[in-house]
Amino acid sequence: MAKLWILLLLVCVFAGAQPPERSKAPKVWDEKALAEWATPIAGLNVRPSHIRPKEYYDLPVVSLRTYPVYAPGREPAGYWQRIQSTGPKPLMEKKGSRTATEWIEAGKIAFEEADFFHLRTLDPKYIAEVRNGSLAPSRVLPDGTLFGLRWVPTKQGVALSSSNCSFCHTLYLPDGARVPGAPFRTIAPRPPETFKVWPVFSRLQVELGVLVGSPPFLMPGLSVGARLSQGYGVPWKSDDPHERLKTVTQEEYEQLDLAARSSGGLPRWNGSIIFPAKTPDLIGIQERRYIDHTATHLHRNAGDLMRYAALVTSAEATRFGPHEMGGPDTKRIRARFSDDDLYALARYLYSLTPPANPNPFNESAAAGQRLFQREGCVNCHTPPLYTNNRLTLASGFAVPANAPASLEILPVSVGTDPSLALSTRKGTGYYKIPSLKGVWYRGRYLHDGSLASLEEMFDPSRLQDSHSPGGWRPLGTKTRAVKGHEFGLGLTPAERSQLIAFLRTL
Ligand code: HEC
Ligand code: HEC
Repeated sequence: MAKLWILLLLVCVFAGAQPPERSKAPKVWDEKALAEWATPIAGLNVRPSHIRPKEYYDLPVVSLRTYPVYAPGREPAGYWQRIQSTGPKPLMEKKGSRTATEWIEAGKIAFEEADFFHLRTLDPKYIAEVRNGSLAPSRVLPDGTLFGLRWVPTKQGVALSSSNCSFCHTLYLPDGARVPGAPFRTIAPRPPETFKVWPVFSRLQVELGVLVGSPPFLMPGLSVGARLSQGYGVPWKSDDPHERLKTVTQEEYEQLDLAARSSGGLPRWNGSIIFPAKTPDLIGIQERRYIDHTATHLHRNAGDLMRYAALVTSAEATRFGPHEMGGPDTKRIRARFSDDDLYALARYLYSLTPPANPNPFNESAAAGQRLFQREGCVNCHTPPLYTNNRLTLASGFAVPANAPASLEILPVSVGTDPSLALSTRKGTGYYKIPSLKGVWYRGRYLHDGSLASLEEMFDPSRLQDSHSPGGWRPLGTKTRAVKGHEFGLGLTPAERSQLIAFLRTL
């Protein structure tokens, strides 16, 4: 008996001493994985094309370690000199296999430090502006660093750049706490104010011919109208609402851009400056079956998340069936992340957890939970994920007979604004059913971020034309009905606050 115990003990010790499992990054730009990854575009019924693996892997890997930029007077002694002598360092120090913990640690660095490669500038004029504080007013974080700016030691010297993923996908709570992965919101009460602090990058973007928030192509020398038309035009639509963008002036563009930002998002390439998409919460992404509000891509595994990050960075083909969106002088950004960078990013995003929820599950919330059942919310926002991970139809969209079997479609429409899903190049005809986990901190509701609170979401007066939306409003409008998703709108005021109390606990 004693021998048996010793044997068992030895087995346990041996098992415990097993080195943790190591894994390697999968190949990101892989024809087989790309083939059925994208969802066909509504109205066109073809999948967007992708660039060939050879073209992708020919792009140089230029990802480097980057460092925070301090506000004038807040920089630690010797910091600037240290940065000068640091020299370029790759984002991933070592290549090859890593343990789960090592991937997550590396991914945290990638998420926090990755910059927009094409916005790196060595121009002493811009660097001086940032260092001497003439770039005012700027958003200073509690630790004295400037929001979104990065120093990048390169072979040619220290460049100024802008944060990439962490710029849009980090939330600052009212108490200053930082929540990586949650959508950018409260750093300014309404995002437009924050973006006025970007004179350096706004000017750089004009010089380079890129659209704000839409990095994959450089269109130098093109009029702003031509750039907007390449970024957002939908030529297969006979009445394309983006047609009018062709003649806008720089000033009108800036106003459209500010209006779009009140959605809590920044217009991305293939998206739209007139039909914005709010920034989604990346916390919990590992449980979602589709990527983007309109399910532009499947999310089958970490490889798909890596592909998405590569796509938005520099791998976009911008070809839709017979429609080529880039002009003859439009140039792809010649830069990419390494497969290791992207795998680390994906593993890190999968590891993100929500901030501690301050909302108690009290009696009111318990009553709200019963209402959540009674009102049928559970059918779509099914616990424990608070989504059934299915797609709904945009108003007016009928599922094509040859829709891919990989799409799980609930053939109903919740009746929200169909424009993003039907009138943009990200328009698949579908809106996914979002998870309600984390709605308490999200701050913008519905795909276009029209609504700015749960109170507003469940207030029936939002259906009236006289409603003044707390979130996104098209340029030039003050009031507008926010239609659709009428679930819960018939509740009494007492029931409504119970339902909201419950939602806040998720
Ligand atoms: C300029 C702001 C911005 C930057 C920078 C940015 N994103 Fe996003 N991201 C968005 C917006 C806006 C959307 C929503 C797009 C849509 O639904 O059409 C989005 C969507 C996503 C999604 C889909 C999530 C979901 O639930 O559907 C993922 C994943 C993602 N981004 C990851 C990244 C990564 C990784 C990076 C860095 C390589 C990055 N993003 C950089 C604004 C940004
Ligand atoms: C038929 C399916 C369905 C039912 C039933 C349903 N929802 Fe939704 N819900 C959706 C879809 C789809 C969206 C996204 C719509 C959009 O973005 O345009 C959504 C969005 C939301 C959002 C906004 C989330 C965000 O981050 O933008 C909240 C909150 C919400 N639903 C709560 C509820 C509650 C509470 C109920 C019950 C009273 C309910 N829903 C019933 C499908 C449903």
